[in-house]
Amino acid sequence: MSEIDIEKIRADTPGVGHVNHLLACGSSLMPQQVIDALADHHRLEGQIGGYEAHAARLDSLEGVYDSVARLINASPTEIALVENATVGWAHAFYALEFEPGDRILTCEAEYAANYVAYLQREKRDGIVIDVIPSDEAGAIDLDALRSMTAKSDRVKLISITWIPTNGGLVNPAAEVGAIAKEHGITYLLDACQAAGQTPIDVEALQCDFLSATGRKFLRGPRGTGFLYVRQSHLDAGIEPAIIDHYGADWVATDRYQLRDDARRFETWENSYALRAGLGVAVDYALDVGIEAIQDRAWGLAASLREKISQISGATLFDLGHQKCAIVTFTIEGQDPYELAATLREQKINIGASDPESTLLDSTARKLSPLNRAAPHYFNTEEEIDQLVSSLAAL
Ligand SMILES: Cc1ncc(COP(=O)(O)O)c(C=O)c1O
Repeated sequence: MSEIDIEKIRADTPGVGHVNHLLACGSSLMPQQVIDALADHHRLEGQIGGYEAHAARLDSLEGVYDSVARLINASPTEIALVENATVGWAHAFYALEFEPGDRILTCEAEYAANYVAYLQREKRDGIVIDVIPSDEAGAIDLDALRSMTAKSDRVKLISITWIPTNGGLVNPAAEVGAIAKEHGITYLLDACQAAGQTPIDVEALQCDFLSATGRKFLRGPRGTGFLYVRQSHLDAGIEPAIIDHYGADWVATDRYQLRDDARRFETWENSYALRAGLGVAVDYALDVGIEAIQDRAWGLAASLREKISQISGATLFDLGHQKCAIVTFTIEGQDPYELAATLREQKINIGASDPESTLLDSTARKLSPLNRAAPHYFNTEEEIDQLVSSLAAL
């Protein structure tokens, strides 16, 4: 598929017959092919046994690493498959060694899960957290980042969120990567919301680590995610914070040997049904074409923003030089959680997000809870209009 074949895509998506799902930033609707892959694997486990099903499907399960690698222009040996984006991210972050006084740079839109981990290592290891200011559009200020990296040789990590959980923002991840590279600073990129809505190329991004989830814009099953680890870190012997006998061989009674590949960040037991589903979801997205997906999803979001801006009492909160498929807003007099619940009764799925999920940004902008809606490429302009008329009728 080079152009989006919307009829086929909707025919592949049973959920569209039940709901107007505008929440890809939460958890998206899976294509039937993904649902089938999950069910097939579970069925096989029920028929012949869990270990036996794994052995029977080994080739296609190995292929999931190839699919994820293709998605982000990496090598399959640089991929670890994990339960969610946070697990992947934390594996990378907690593998990094810091001395007291080492500085890490992050962004104003940083996600809560990551920030609490910084705070823990501030408390435990004495690291210093510096927040890169945002520019006038709300994106990472690259000049400020340049001067922060030039000012101190204690900056050991740049760790940012590419596309935040709300706010429409797309941070300049590749430009940040170029600055990190220039100064030899390790670069950890949270691509949780980026995967499946925008092309990812770890070579262009120049990141050392990248984490993402399966269930959002990739349309995979819940409970899936992955971590990319650059080969040079594997070769240098990066030690995961936790290992088991899958991540490392117990080669002598007093010695273990880490695996050569990124699977040293995995553990022995996994849901192979979920992995099979993730692989099919990634292949499906690649088949549709990530650029085409971005064009359509961002186009629908732009249209939604425009239409929401016409509703009296509506306020939009999106930031950035370019805006992604996540639209955040409030409707005057409407509690965002109640509004989402009301719409759910009308079979329209949108979400609400707490200030705590991006506390730096929400404190700076004095944000209360917001509604978020995220159209994906399987949505239609009619579904956008249905949401807008429901909002207008409130
Ligand atoms: C920007 C960002 N990073 C990380 C996460 C965490 O992802 P997961 O729930 O898959 O661990 C989220 C989840 O919403 C997110 O929006």
